Amino acid sequence: MPARKLFVAGNWKMNPANVEAARALAAGVRDGVGTSAEVEVALGCPAVYLSAVSEVLSDSPIGLGGQNMYWAKDGAYTGEISASMLLDQGCTHVILGHSERRHGMGETDEQVNKKLKAALEAGLYPIVCLGETLEERESDRTEAVVAAQLQGSLAGLTPEEMNKVVLAYEPVWAIGTGKTASPEQAQAVHAFIRKKLGEAFGEKTAGLVKIQYGGSVKPDNALELLSCPDIDGALVGGACLKAADFLAIIEAGKKASASK
Ligand code: 13P
Repeated sequence: MPARKLFVAGNWKMNPANVEAARALAAGVRDGVGTSAEVEVALGCPAVYLSAVSEVLSDSPIGLGGQNMYWAKDGAYTGEISASMLLDQGCTHVILGHSERRHGMGETDEQVNKKLKAALEAGLYPIVCLGETLEERESDRTEAVVAAQLQGSLAGLTPEEMNKVVLAYEPVWAIGTGKTASPEQAQAVHAFIRKKLGEAFGEKTAGLVKIQYGGSVKPDNALELLSCPDIDGALVGGACLKAADFLAIIEAGKKASASK
């Protein structure tokens, strides 16, 4: 067993098209995972499906995540959803700072930080996403960008709080493009993130925090990626919309765990 149990999460994004399809997809994953706990598994679903998916996943070890939330507890915030509302719908996790929110909706590190603190306070396990764009990589700014995102998004957290946070390194150029970071490229950034965590929170916490890789993870590249020493799981987009593909990635995680 590796020091950090591998964690494979699916990010359904704005899919599937209706609640029946959401139930069916969740049931396919639930049935394939069974009671197996060798790899931690969670599904990040659109808010409107959370209650239905939570029902499907009851009695299963699979976690349930929202894909975003707002930091205030309640009040006049039209269209927003609070941490306690996610908990009420059966969530255990919440994805924060996804690149589609950072780049598509203008979410800042400061906002991600406020959401992160509110999620932790409510008792949700946050998955905080970060990663560079193609332009940033090509101009050799990957480490500077990732370091700034870490500093801004995780500002003010104690080591104890940080132990409850999962990070997801998702190079923006690899998301939904079919271009995966090579295991060497991904491992190098993961090792850099862990080094930065050590500087900010101490070696013990840096050794405990799980860092998922995300960006075109598929059944045929998952084993190689998940076998890297600092890659502790995957945040899967497109390939999690087919239960069989997502289950194949979970299987790759089990194999990778056995050799870590
Ligand atoms: P893809 O797996 O579709 O590239 O998406 C990755 C992602 O954004 C997961 O959050």
